[in-house]
Amino acid sequence: MKGVVLAGGTGSRLHPLTRVTNKHLLPVYDKPMLYYPLQTLVEAGIHDILIVTGGNSAGDFLRLLRNGKDFGLQQLNFAYQEGEGGIADALRLAEYFARGEKVCVILGDNIIEDSLLRAKQRFERQDRGAMILLKEVPDAERFGVPVFDGARIIRIEEKPKAPRSSYAVIGAYFYDHTVFDRIRTLQPSGRGELEITDANNSYLRDGELNYEILEGWWTDAGTFDSLWRAGNLVREKSLTRESVSAAGGGK
Ligand code: DAU
Repeated sequence: MKGVVLAGGTGSRLHPLTRVTNKHLLPVYDKPMLYYPLQTLVEAGIHDILIVTGGNSAGDFLRLLRNGKDFGLQQLNFAYQEGEGGIADALRLAEYFARGEKVCVILGDNIIEDSLLRAKQRFERQDRGAMILLKEVPDAERFGVPVFDGARIIRIEEKPKAPRSSYAVIGAYFYDHTVFDRIRTLQPSGRGELEITDANNSYLRDGELNYEILEGWWTDAGTFDSLWRAGNLVREKSLTRESVSAAGGGK
């Protein structure tokens, strides 16, 4: 399975922090934001990774990550998104890289506490379609939100004013190769973007979308509050790890 980190867009919700740099290069506690989704892919055993970025700081990604040595990688792949046509528009750029294989896609501003290894293994056993991950949140209106009929998702709504469930579709998605054909059929949304939620709904209509509930914490980091929260969560996790290892645990 191949991995894709989407790190384009303008980060306008973080102005003026993002006026001269890309959102994904901002610090989250002790590392640049992008390190976390990249590490998540590597920990799930995905080593063939494409980073899609854009804007004026694209060269800084290469200077920061080089060939991915900090992550134990031999090589990294980069693509450049012209403009900010949305998440599905950025994912389009991964078609050539994917070469018909399944892909695990992570948004560059999503930080996930636990490993995605189990989810990836489950998706490897799924012969076609897509898999999304859900997390219960207090502010579902900020996200893609599933509408349930019993345990079955019947629709996903993007940033609904009145969410029909308290779950967010987190920014980590597993797709088969049909995702690129599906994206070709999408129309820009009200905010002028090709929405990943529309691609997910296309799988749903074909009965090919599975989901899992994520364990551990998850946050995005694309607003002032969520960026601050992300830094705190990462810091707490790293302090807990240090105190466990100082006490001789975790061996
Ligand atoms: O965080 C999870 C949420 O992410 C999902 O629940 C939503 O369904 C999904 O639409 C998305 O919502 P946001 O509005 O928060 O996404 P945002 O525009 O902040 O973009 C998230 C990341 O996607 C961003 O850090 C980089 C990448 N991206 C985004 C755009 C608009 C691109 O690579 N290119 C783009 O043009």
